[in-house]
Amino acid sequence: MGLPWPAHAVRGADGAVRVAGVDLRDLAAEQGTPAYVLDEAAFRSRARGVRTAFEKAFGHLGAGVDVYYAGKAFLSVAVARWAHEEGLRVDTSTGGELAVALRAGVPGADIGLHGNNKSDAEIARALDAGVGRIIVDSLGELDRLVAAVRERTADGAEPAPAPVMVRVTTGVHAGGHEYISTAHEDQKFGLSVATAADGTSPAMTALERVVAAPELRLLGIHSHIGSQILDPEGFAVAAGAVLRLRAELAARTGCLAPEVDLGGGFGIAYLPGEVPLDPERIAKDLATTVDATCAELGTPVPRLSFEPGRAIVGPTTLTLYTVGTVKPVTLEDGRVRLYVSVDGGMSDNIRPALYGAPYHAAVVSRTGAARTVLARVVGKHCESGDIVVHEVQLPADVAPGDLLAVAATGAYGRSMASNYNHVPRPPVVAVRDGATRVLVRRETEDDLLALDLG
Ligand code: LLP
Repeated sequence: MGLPWPAHAVRGADGAVRVAGVDLRDLAAEQGTPAYVLDEAAFRSRARGVRTAFEKAFGHLGAGVDVYYAGKAFLSVAVARWAHEEGLRVDTSTGGELAVALRAGVPGADIGLHGNNKSDAEIARALDAGVGRIIVDSLGELDRLVAAVRERTADGAEPAPAPVMVRVTTGVHAGGHEYISTAHEDQKFGLSVATAADGTSPAMTALERVVAAPELRLLGIHSHIGSQILDPEGFAVAAGAVLRLRAELAARTGCLAPEVDLGGGFGIAYLPGEVPLDPERIAKDLATTVDATCAELGTPVPRLSFEPGRAIVGPTTLTLYTVGTVKPVTLEDGRVRLYVSVDGGMSDNIRPALYGAPYHAAVVSRTGAARTVLARVVGKHCESGDIVVHEVQLPADVAPGDLLAVAATGAYGRSMASNYNHVPRPPVVAVRDGATRVLVRRETEDDLLALDLG
């Protein structure tokens, strides 16, 4: 069906949509709705595609590149395993995500742990699992990490240093179609590279502390500039700032950080006609920028890493709903908007309510009438902001019982789902070669009641 639908979604001659050979009518009958339907082959090929794009672009620079799948977009044991099988590492941002990656059998060395407020338990778990990198977000966290390593070091023994990246903010913040450049970012993540009156920056202070601490090993510098970025310019600006910081650190301490991570954030298409950021193009452009900047600074090219989440999983998944109430509402300007209620809503996709995010929807159980009407897809929650798709043309004869799919819900759909109104969260059902496999089962009322101690 083309973008923004999953790669293997096809509308058959009978008007019903199959994804990877699975008829969505059958899937709905077997699994119920709502359900997230994830195209496994699309996930694997997107993961592989991003990895190979970066390997191709950075290969000739000689320092290597790693792609981490950002699990916050959507993580389950199977998905972590697929990402790893496709040659990616896994980026986690909490102890919970770390637990899923470890349960999947991803070796600690191939996992990174983020978080602006890691607990001591999360730090301990990361050290015990031997994670490949802990991305430090504050000076306080550095102290706690040093203490945790010391605790694990026998009296008189050399500490086994924790591999550390320092997350910095470069003043570039990107997202959607815009990026703005500011001297200081008024937000919670990272340490600023901006120089204060005393001639140094919070980022440099942290880096120097890591270099000086025998309990820590400086692996690199990390920068993540935002999410759903469609304009690649911000990445190049951030790369330049990070590479300059790296060169400055080397000049001050003699320590050349071996690695630079430029984060994730590559934008995808949510609507027909929207052009996603092309991983090959961004990889090539960034390789050119990194090469030229390092040459200018006289520093060797570092190992690079990236952390895309949305660009890998977002387009692989649709949410399948059953249409319930259909209600025409006359607007002030005389137009009529058809309110189409589905059996889920803001509990399975908070993004429209939270960010005003646009989505696309279609009836997938049959060919609808050729005439379309202006429709708004809404959920079943007790809130007028419970909107799934603000505006979409749907067949004029859309009716209760139709199956309706919303495209590109793989990233931050299930991962930000809630139980608002005690609605159990939908399952994640993988489809591949005509077969279905439940990755995450549907929550039940019993699951919810089990938490309620009466
Ligand atoms: N790395 C770091 C350090 C991050 O903070 C994030 C996302 C990523 C990687 C992955 O970004 P992606 O490639 O998926 O854009 N809930 C929001 C998105 C929040 C992203 C937070 N950090 C949404 O639904 O749009």
